Amino acid sequence: MAPIDPHSFTDSSHPLTTHVSLSLYLDFNASTIHASALLTLSSPFSGNLSLDSRSISIKSIIDPQTLTPLPHSVSSSPDPIKGSEVVVVLAGQSQILILYSTSPSASALQWLSPLQTFSKTHPYVYTQCQAIHARSIFPCQDTPAARIRYDVVMNVPSSLSAVMSARHVRRRLPVLEEAKHLDVLSSVVWCGEDRVVEEFVMEQPIPPYLFAFAVGELGFREVGPRTRVYAESAAGDVLDAAALEFAGTEEMIKQGEKLFGDYEWERFDLLVLPPSFPYGGMENPRMVFLTPTVIKGDATGAQVVAHELAHSWTGNLITNINNEHFWLNEGFTTYAERRIVEVVQGGDIATLNIGIGWRGLNDEMERFKDNLEFTKLKNKQEGVDPDDVYSQVPYEKGFQFVLRIERQVGRTAFDEFLKKYIATFKFKSIDTDTFLDFLKANIPGIEKEINLQLWTEGVGIPEDAYEPVSAIYTKIISLAEEFKQGKMPSEDEVAEWKGQEWELYLENLPKSCEPSQVMALDKRYRLAESKDYEVKVSFLKLAISSKCKEYHGEVEKTLKAVGRMLYLRTLFTALAQTGGTEEKQLAKQIFAEARETYHPIAQGVVESILSKYI
Ligand code: BES
Ligand code: ZN
Repeated sequence: MAPIDPHSFTDSSHPLTTHVSLSLYLDFNASTIHASALLTLSSPFSGNLSLDSRSISIKSIIDPQTLTPLPHSVSSSPDPIKGSEVVVVLAGQSQILILYSTSPSASALQWLSPLQTFSKTHPYVYTQCQAIHARSIFPCQDTPAARIRYDVVMNVPSSLSAVMSARHVRRRLPVLEEAKHLDVLSSVVWCGEDRVVEEFVMEQPIPPYLFAFAVGELGFREVGPRTRVYAESAAGDVLDAAALEFAGTEEMIKQGEKLFGDYEWERFDLLVLPPSFPYGGMENPRMVFLTPTVIKGDATGAQVVAHELAHSWTGNLITNINNEHFWLNEGFTTYAERRIVEVVQGGDIATLNIGIGWRGLNDEMERFKDNLEFTKLKNKQEGVDPDDVYSQVPYEKGFQFVLRIERQVGRTAFDEFLKKYIATFKFKSIDTDTFLDFLKANIPGIEKEINLQLWTEGVGIPEDAYEPVSAIYTKIISLAEEFKQGKMPSEDEVAEWKGQEWELYLENLPKSCEPSQVMALDKRYRLAESKDYEVKVSFLKLAISSKCKEYHGEVEKTLKAVGRMLYLRTLFTALAQTGGTEEKQLAKQIFAEARETYHPIAQGVVESILSKYI
């Protein structure tokens, strides 16, 4: 009788769910899903079974064999992080059928009105379940320790279509019979003449946080033998640009297979979301979700795809058992991403990325200087909201640890080790110790060369971490140093710079500078107007902390145009933490006006930033 995951009510003495069958009726007018979920457990169970849920209203829970109601309760006051525990009393059943509706405020779902879309005529809805939001779509054991297969019958308006992190089976007319469990709905509604059903199946066992769908007026372009890119069909330009940007995807999949073993998920499709998508990318299996901000005609779009693709092995095949071991997902994936980038874009670009990551990691040490727990790879997350402590640490310190091992044993041996690691633990959820045991067993004596405990449990950045060296990296760092003495880089020096060079440069400038110098830099190189959001946001952060009020308009415009949390975090933190009264006031005003356009997860994150500093 113990929890197996600090973010779930799932109990160690209970059987885990192995399969979920969902029937979903999407009501766009009410931003609600009326649904049934049939959960299958690994074995029959008697006693009180605990499930996770958040803002879900349960109509009834029944035994699907006998169709009799099962006694159950829902905790009266939700835990602010975990949500509401659902307890179902079982007497030897291995299946339960739950009839329920989601709430318009479901934390995984963003419902966009037609006006918030490209088409302006059709609504749109999409999910983001990592880390602990799947429970707001269906009651479940929402822990990556419980890997599920699933099938879904989704009833949507016939003017729209659906994509999922699953295989599309068919699109067909609704059938009267299938509405019978959805007692909140009449069969007439289910079978309305403007409705259609989309069926999906996911045959491989995945953690619940990889459950994903999007519904809208979607179109696609073919970009490779197993890859299409999807987006709103009204966003024809986005589709065309995306098809170009991601043309090299098949090459990257092949490279991934060479490095890590077979690609196990059959298709690798991409979905470009509306600008409010809260992440750069999300590795939903078979259907990666991407922010439209990555499409800018340079190398970065492919890099985000390389990252999400790499998760097909590290994260989706081998999964962190809970969020305390998140570095196993992101550290290995960052390493794998850079190996792919190195092959397809060259060593210089890979080194630049390592350099940007190195700067980011060092900055996170400052952010967590009063909360050193989150500078550890493996950390305690009891009572902690994963969205609040999301940082570069699992990515960049994790990357550094994996690279440290590679440097110790050499690439050839390490590549062999990686392949074996993936083959051994595929479709399993593991913790840090399982990895370390496997490492020690397969690279005997490694613990004498590398302080494994310091790397995984220690705070800060270990001495034997690696700051990259390359001509271009070193040049940019020294130019950034010279800015402190009042020297601006010359046209010649920046002639070859693209977004990443500028980002590295800006991120290495002092946190705040002389306002006149910041404005002179922008006057010469037009950074505040850059179409590259990484550059733009880096510059605006510098402008805010340097008290250049001239840029407040641009900051406001940016925060109202995109909902990617990386940018929201950076700019809202700069305004609220380093700013004076005027900046704090601006932060509050922008949030009040833009809030409704953000994904619920982003709303929560900005709220917690503002409440910390204002
Ligand atoms: N899995 C993450 C996104 C994520 C992490 C969502 C934690 C929810 C909780 C994804 O693979 C990722 O790392 N995205 C990055 C992309 C980048 C590193 C190329 C992002 O969104 O910035
Ligand atoms: Zn990732």
